[in-house]
Amino acid sequence: MLVFTSAVGCSTDQPALKDVFAKDFLIGGALNDDVVNGKDPKAAAIAEKHFSTITAENVMKWMHIHPEPNKYDFAATDRFVDFGQKNNMFIVGHTLVWHWQTPKWVFVDDANNPLTREALLARMKDHIFTVVSHYKGRVNGWDVVNEALDDNGQLRKTKWMEIIGEDFIAKAFKFAHEADPSAELYYNDFSLENPAKRDGCVRLVKDLQSKGVHIDGVGLQGQAWRLEPDAPSRENLEDFINAVSALGVKVMVTEMCIDVLPKAIYQPGADLKQRAELREELNPYLDGLPDRMQKKLADRYAELFSLYRKHADKISRVTLWGVYDKTSWLNNWPVRGRTNYPLLFDRNYQPKPAFYAVVKTAQSGK
Ligand code: G3I
Repeated sequence: MLVFTSAVGCSTDQPALKDVFAKDFLIGGALNDDVVNGKDPKAAAIAEKHFSTITAENVMKWMHIHPEPNKYDFAATDRFVDFGQKNNMFIVGHTLVWHWQTPKWVFVDDANNPLTREALLARMKDHIFTVVSHYKGRVNGWDVVNEALDDNGQLRKTKWMEIIGEDFIAKAFKFAHEADPSAELYYNDFSLENPAKRDGCVRLVKDLQSKGVHIDGVGLQGQAWRLEPDAPSRENLEDFINAVSALGVKVMVTEMCIDVLPKAIYQPGADLKQRAELREELNPYLDGLPDRMQKKLADRYAELFSLYRKHADKISRVTLWGVYDKTSWLNNWPVRGRTNYPLLFDRNYQPKPAFYAVVKTAQSGK
């Protein structure tokens, strides 16, 4: 029997999230290397107990897996995939084509001149074929293209766009599908719930579909969402879920974390170039999160998970961006060195009130 207490008090009983949501969607988190290499066994234990799906937080990014033109390094990524397979998890590869964490050499030739379209396509194909083939039949889904849209819904001006043109997205999906026809393929981005970006995403998926390009789903990152009810609003989220689902592809919440600290930058989303300096007033909970804030966080998580459950027929997966608060990237973005509390497990690996609030949503009707 599951025992629950109020949002702020914690029960000692700890049901496994993957069992609690088994009928609704896969649930999991992004893992860093320490979780799978033995350095953070308590985080590994949380993942093993609670997660039915995992995403590579960093190790599969181009700069790590393919640091030099003729050098692929699969050591950390093999550890990650082995961990997922050993625990029977749905494994997500993140990410094949992105404008961040891609070394400069990718876009230039030996003489440091910009590559031609054909040469960059060949390089992209080599990367996708090598990485996806290495994990053929083992990685279940790939974030093929990451964050290709600007906030206005237009395609972002990146080196991929500049050199190859708009069809770099279609080409990436085509290469990935050829390399492993059984893997699910996704487009993944932040702030997709905002109407202009949502519409851009819908156009993008429709365009791929009209060209016969294989795409299985869209990842709504849920990056750095906030406690305020409009960040994001329920209405925007539902509009996004309905709009994408109407295209016949899966919706996934792929990088969820809730920022409880004062806003340090104007912009919503998770654009890595946005940064602010550390100031005392931006880091108010150095000694712990007060109960009233724990309650707010629990309520916000409950609100969002209730909404996911309402749309469980359209949402295939919910992935939190990390395992526990101490190693969340939100401790270092957009301000380095803050103490943030965005996840369901605290710095001592204990479930927070938000954990119990999330579990409780599975007890009520949709
Ligand atoms: O591992 C090095 C360490 O050796 C070094 O001392 C330290 C100094 O800064 O850096 C460490 O690497 C950092 C790495 O995270 C591991 O913590 C990098 O600087 C830092 O840039 C990197 O940030 C990651 C970021 O993507 C950029 O790749 C975050 O962990 C990761 O959570 C974040 O994830 C992205 C998703 O991939 C895409 N969506 C947005 C999301 C948030 O930006």
